[in-house]
Amino acid sequence: MWFTPQQKDEILSRTDIVDVIGSYVNLKRSGRSFMGLCPFHNEKTPSFSVNPDLQIYKCFGCNASGNVITFLMEYDNMSYSEAINYLGEKAGVQGEDRMNSESAKKFNDKKNKLFEINKQAATYFYRCLKSKDGYYGYKYLRDRGLTDETIIHFGLGFAPQNSTQLYEILKEKGYDDGILMESKLFKKDGNKVYGIFWNRVMFPIFDRSNHVIGFGGRVMSDAKPKYLNSLENDVFSKRKNLFAMNFARKSKENYFILCEGYMDVISLHQAGFTTAVASLGTALTEEQAREIKRYADNVYLTYDSDDAGQKAAIRGIPILRSAGLSPRVINMEPYKDPDEFIKNLGSDEFKKRIDDAMNGFFFECEYAKKRYRMSDPDERANFIKKVAHLIADLNDEVVGESYIKSASVRYSIDEGILKNNVRSIRQSNAGMVSRSEKRQENIKQYEQKNHKLTGINKAYALVLSWLLKEPEDYGRISKWIGYDDFVDEEYREVAKKIFEQLEANKLNPASIIGEYEDAAMQQRVSSMLQTDFDFELPRAEREVALNEMVTLIKRNSVSHQMKNLTDVNKITELAALKKKLEKPDAIKV
Ligand code: CTP
Ligand code: MN
Repeated sequence: MWFTPQQKDEILSRTDIVDVIGSYVNLKRSGRSFMGLCPFHNEKTPSFSVNPDLQIYKCFGCNASGNVITFLMEYDNMSYSEAINYLGEKAGVQGEDRMNSESAKKFNDKKNKLFEINKQAATYFYRCLKSKDGYYGYKYLRDRGLTDETIIHFGLGFAPQNSTQLYEILKEKGYDDGILMESKLFKKDGNKVYGIFWNRVMFPIFDRSNHVIGFGGRVMSDAKPKYLNSLENDVFSKRKNLFAMNFARKSKENYFILCEGYMDVISLHQAGFTTAVASLGTALTEEQAREIKRYADNVYLTYDSDDAGQKAAIRGIPILRSAGLSPRVINMEPYKDPDEFIKNLGSDEFKKRIDDAMNGFFFECEYAKKRYRMSDPDERANFIKKVAHLIADLNDEVVGESYIKSASVRYSIDEGILKNNVRSIRQSNAGMVSRSEKRQENIKQYEQKNHKLTGINKAYALVLSWLLKEPEDYGRISKWIGYDDFVDEEYREVAKKIFEQLEANKLNPASIIGEYEDAAMQQRVSSMLQTDFDFELPRAEREVALNEMVTLIKRNSVSHQMKNLTDVNKITELAALKKKLEKPDAIKV
């Protein structure tokens, strides 16, 4: 069965989260919401709350949260489409054969139009690269070592200074404003339409079937942002696609090479490593890992050798593993990334680094080891415990057994001690309610590590959560900030949807959460929208806090805009605004 986004919303609107969760958990009404014992962690007093107005849930103990789809995915281990199908059947919403239905056809027509527009744009950018206007773009790519063949193979291009020309060409071809705006290649400023990309070398992004779905554009100087990526739309999902997947999937190799950047991928392909792919300016997702698993069993990570790159590898390894892939990490020292490596040492040396790549588990151990002073007995003991945890987390006894052996040799740990330690961790893990609890636990740890809500992110989450609780405050908040003021891309995406719903007086957070197919992502979005704010505080105190948060967001946005500007007039204007905002009572929500 297949459901359009509208049908998914229909399903959600006909479903009551309290009924569904209530069939698994004993829920009792408490004020406007329902409370029960959290099914995701062991507890004696209820901290699991289900909100029937907003159709979302949240546990104040373990931070599990989401909509009814998240619940079924996390508690019942359903996949996204299983959950939708299950709810669709219950709600009596008829799904359709992908091909035949009217709405599916309409949706496909629209997608095809977007594919065409992107393809026209890619052709246009390529022509520009080869024209006089594109000379510097072409020279830039050649200076970075790309051959003409590579440029053609990847369809690289150049977006000229005049960004409206592409718009005019497409208008002439008969595309209307509606679909052109949906392509996300343009933006409106009053009556005038501008291209998002100008004066950048262009990297078209293809889906696995070779449709152009979006673009990355790079400046040729040190200006910021270095890369600009198309925003998402009905054909472009950053979570689901990988750069160069259209080529990599055709290879017969049983391994993929996962990099951080577009240029890394292109250099590797040019050097003969045609299974190199990269995520699209965001961290690796479960969906991308599953996509790779369709074609290969092994993944070599070649992230940047800097701290951020190594952290990204640590984060990626468990994601790859849970998709059934076997991750290894390539050491690129002394170079920063594969692009530089290949340029300096060539492909034979890179092949050697592939052969010498470190097993993902040992990479995790080595990464941990750096944070302990091994000469200190206490710290060494903590390291051994960490190793035991890493082995228990593999969730596979046979594999674990073999790692116990090699880790004890490698780090001179007594094998019996390590074994016992792993066993007791496994036992306490097994005491948890279900597999999803384990996942929940991972997500929580991940959140704590990487998404500790501090500074600006906290302000974003609190303002969004406020809007959910007090939608009537939208008017006075939106007088001061718009969703564009949310600098972080993930928050901005969510803020945009919330602001649009509030604008239309149709607040529906469950529908926003339901757009994401990845349960971890659903949880992320859900917690952005349900961040604890002490609503028990007296109104006056809460107002002060709200004002501070809105001010913080605005100030941050202005500073951010200033960083990316070259127009002197605009800079002066923003500098004045910034100065004004520094006054304590500049904003009065
Ligand atoms: N990226 C992005 N937006 C930015 C910076 C980076 O989307 N402002 C993404 C791009 O996909 C980029 C990748 O992150 O390819 C890696 O970024 P970085 O390491 O900064 O760049 P390099 O790949 O080294 O790019 P280059 O070699 O062109 O400098
Ligand atoms: Mn680089």
